[in-house]
Amino acid sequence: MNWLLAAFAACALTASVHCATGTVEWCYHLPSCNETTWATIAPKFCNGSRQSPINIVSASATGDSSLTAFSFTNYNSNSTLKKISNTGETVKVTLASGVQVSGGGLSEAYDSLQFHLHWGNGSSVPGSEHTVDGRQYPMELHIVNSKSSVNGNTTLALADSTGLAALGFFIEETSSNTTASFAAWHKLTSYLANITEEGQQVDIDPGISMDDLLVGVDRTQYYRYLGSLTTPTCNEVVVWTVFKQSIKVNRELIDLFSKTVHVGNSTSPLMVNVFRSTQPELPVRTQASGSSKGCYSLGLMALSLILGKH
Ligand SMILES: *[C@@H]1O[C@H](CO)[C@@H](O)[C@H](O)[C@H]1NC(C)=O
Ligand SMILES: *[C@@H]1O[C@H](CO)[C@@H](O)[C@H](O)[C@H]1NC(C)=O
Ligand SMILES: *[C@@H]1O[C@H](CO)[C@@H](O)[C@H](O)[C@H]1NC(C)=O
Ligand SMILES: *[C@@H]1O[C@H](CO)[C@@H](O)[C@H](O)[C@H]1NC(C)=O
Ligand SMILES: *[C@@H]1O[C@H](CO)[C@@H](O)[C@H](O)[C@H]1NC(C)=O
Ligand SMILES: *[C@@H]1O[C@H](CO)[C@@H](O)[C@H](O)[C@H]1NC(C)=O
Ligand SMILES: *[C@@H]1O[C@H](CO)[C@@H](O)[C@H](O)[C@H]1NC(C)=O
Ligand SMILES: *[C@@H]1O[C@H](CO)[C@@H](O)[C@H](O)[C@H]1NC(C)=O
Ligand SMILES: [Zn+2]
Repeated sequence: MNWLLAAFAACALTASVHCATGTVEWCYHLPSCNETTWATIAPKFCNGSRQSPINIVSASATGDSSLTAFSFTNYNSNSTLKKISNTGETVKVTLASGVQVSGGGLSEAYDSLQFHLHWGNGSSVPGSEHTVDGRQYPMELHIVNSKSSVNGNTTLALADSTGLAALGFFIEETSSNTTASFAAWHKLTSYLANITEEGQQVDIDPGISMDDLLVGVDRTQYYRYLGSLTTPTCNEVVVWTVFKQSIKVNRELIDLFSKTVHVGNSTSPLMVNVFRSTQPELPVRTQASGSSKGCYSLGLMALSLILGKH
């Protein structure tokens, strides 16, 4: 997950090296600043013990009945996607105020601020950040949310171990042009040609909603763990939700990301392999499954058998 709010934009927009806090220069594509250097250049958190992303071992996820359904506010509005920009390390879409997520075992409502994407090199070289049972997906979409009570104050959000909530959606390729999400992804990716260089941004026309982009995913099925930002300075303040089902996006549209946007100006490399590798495993929870109900009724049955005997 990228922490790329306007508050940190003061950091110099150099050609291909980026800093999240104004002090740390990092990147994905150069040996001098790629992820192998992050624990050294931003040791406070990047070398921490609650780092994201992780490989999720589905069989090890423990059931938790507090992981209820989410409520999404204004995810159905077609005028909430404001601007799309090339930050030099991702493609980011900023959202209008009033877009929120709550429920889902979160302690309070969180404001949805932006979403951005991680990818590899076309649909055949995967680039999701999280993996599930070792499987890496072609892309991953991250919706970045901050606690509504901090009211957009980034200092407060970064000082709170659950100050941010990130929603991660895997993206898988399909050859179909008739999926329910095709029109929305076609429209969204059409803007990539307008932001080929770092620092470029354009307004998004009304007509695409968050629901349009996320269509097909059962948002009651997810994994939950406490982790970090996946880019320096890797602050350990993120409540992660990783949805089990993936968004299906047309292969040609996925390929556009690694073929269109550059890390700097048009003579710089194309933006490819923009993801962090998985970090040491962390405890993961998921919905309490149907089988635990089964155990419960089995327990009752056993109990009534015992009682019956006496
Ligand atoms: C592109 O960026 C490079 C590195 O910063 C710079 O040397 C070069 O002059 C730039 N080219 C153009 C066309 O702006
Ligand atoms: C990062 O750079 C190191 C050299 O410092 C290199 O060995 C490694 O393959 C690079 N990793 C990535 C993900 O590019
Ligand atoms: C990272 O932390 C480990 C201990 O957890 C330490 O041995 C190592 O030197 C640290 N690395 C850096 C670059 O600070
Ligand atoms: C990405 O893939 C293209 C071909 O699809 C290839 O030419 C290019 O070298 C690849 N880039 C990297 C960094 O692997
Ligand atoms: C954020 O909150 C901190 C602590 O309460 C305060 O010092 C700071 O001025 C606030 N920042 C902004 C931009 O409001
Ligand atoms: C499907 O859509 C992609 C992206 O717009 C396009 O490149 C491709 O030609 C389309 N294929 C068909 C069969 O219409
Ligand atoms: C994006 O680029 C296309 C083609 O160059 C152009 O027609 C369109 O006006 C641009 N859109 C925006 C929002 O700048
Ligand atoms: C956006 O949604 C409103 C209300 O549902 C609808 O009237 C309008 O036609 C939509 N606009 C676009 C561009 O799809
Ligand atoms: Zn991200």
